[in-house]
Amino acid sequence: MTVICDIGDLQQLARRRVPRMFYDYADSGAWSESTYRANADDLAAIKLRQRVAVDISDRSTRSEMLGQQVAMPVALAPVGLTGMQYPDGEILAARAAEKFGVPFTLSTMSICSIEDVAANTTKPFWFQLYVMRDRDFVGRLIDRAREAGCSALVLTLDLQVLAQRHKDLRNGLSAPPRWNPSTLWQLASRPGWCLRMLGTRRRSFGNVVGHVRGVDDMASLGAWTAEQFDPTLNWNDIDWIRERWGGKLILKGILDPEDAREAVRVGADALIVSNHGGRQLDGAPSSIAALPAIVDAVGDQLEVHVDGGIRSGQDVMRALCLGAGGTYIGRAFIYGLGALGEAGVSRALEIIRNELDMTMGLCGASRVADLGRHNLLEPPA
Ligand SMILES: Cc1cc2nc3c(=O)[nH]c(=O)nc-3n(C[C@H](O)[C@H](O)[C@H](O)COP(=O)(O)O)c2cc1C
Repeated sequence: MTVICDIGDLQQLARRRVPRMFYDYADSGAWSESTYRANADDLAAIKLRQRVAVDISDRSTRSEMLGQQVAMPVALAPVGLTGMQYPDGEILAARAAEKFGVPFTLSTMSICSIEDVAANTTKPFWFQLYVMRDRDFVGRLIDRAREAGCSALVLTLDLQVLAQRHKDLRNGLSAPPRWNPSTLWQLASRPGWCLRMLGTRRRSFGNVVGHVRGVDDMASLGAWTAEQFDPTLNWNDIDWIRERWGGKLILKGILDPEDAREAVRVGADALIVSNHGGRQLDGAPSSIAALPAIVDAVGDQLEVHVDGGIRSGQDVMRALCLGAGGTYIGRAFIYGLGALGEAGVSRALEIIRNELDMTMGLCGASRVADLGRHNLLEPPA
């Protein structure tokens, strides 16, 4: 039995259990993957300031994100195809998140549908929206999320065109799946995954299939998604989305202070400093490098969250110290899911909370609200 100490152990287990095309889909970035690597490397380079002889007996990682109580300020990021890492993956991850007390964000490109996740959970989750050319479909998605009781809409702005990820091309990842000796072997070499997958009927894009005229199977779905991401999306579109939604709105994919000021202007409740986990603009700065300037520009006007490269509680601590009001994990929970299903997501959350709790203590801090740049060493000049 593998001893699981950190997110890296869950990652190794997921690599052994999930077919290569889906494992690599998660563990990859755009083109040269320089931004993907920078997300984690830049976090690791931030030095924490150790303090001693402070009474840290009464510590708590509890906090708030968007007015919602959270066990720690770490939400699950929207991840497309989560249900391919492990059957019914979105439902399992949402359940783990609600038991733990952190928000779960369902992707537009999920396998389990909004209604399905709502029917199999007891607390409201957040819904992430991609704006498609088919605006009727987008409007109905917003309505469906509201009717399912979602408590925040996360509007992703950094995927108007889809960047190239080499591993997906090499592995033949596609909808509909392309069957050849390589793709068949990728599945056949993971018999446990195949057996579990046979036990679910959820194997397609649940929010799309059956909700768009003419899209009822994998072949029509492939053609539809390929041409649907809308390159015309601009700041003027946010108004109607905000009005149609009528609830808390989070704008995801902000990396520049000027765009952050736009987010304030259009009335967002929060923004997420994000480069899509290094999966879009290769060569963009890491999210943690972009965070301080955005906090300085708009941090007193809306909540500033961040994601990208967070693999430990120490990373969460670094982001909070640099002014983030909340963080998100993508791959860290996906590796847990691929490794052990719902129990693996719970384990990932426990690992990160324990690390955050210890790290706060060793920095002499007892409350999330007290964290700040004073908990970090000044970067060398
Ligand atoms: C496999 C995968 C699929 C993703 N799918 C989506 C998506 O459907 N919508 C979205 O807004 N972001 C998506 N993202 C980006 C994540 O929401 C998040 O920004 C990113 O994973 C954070 O970086 P991290 O994985 O290093 O924590 C995806 C990320 C991964 C790894």
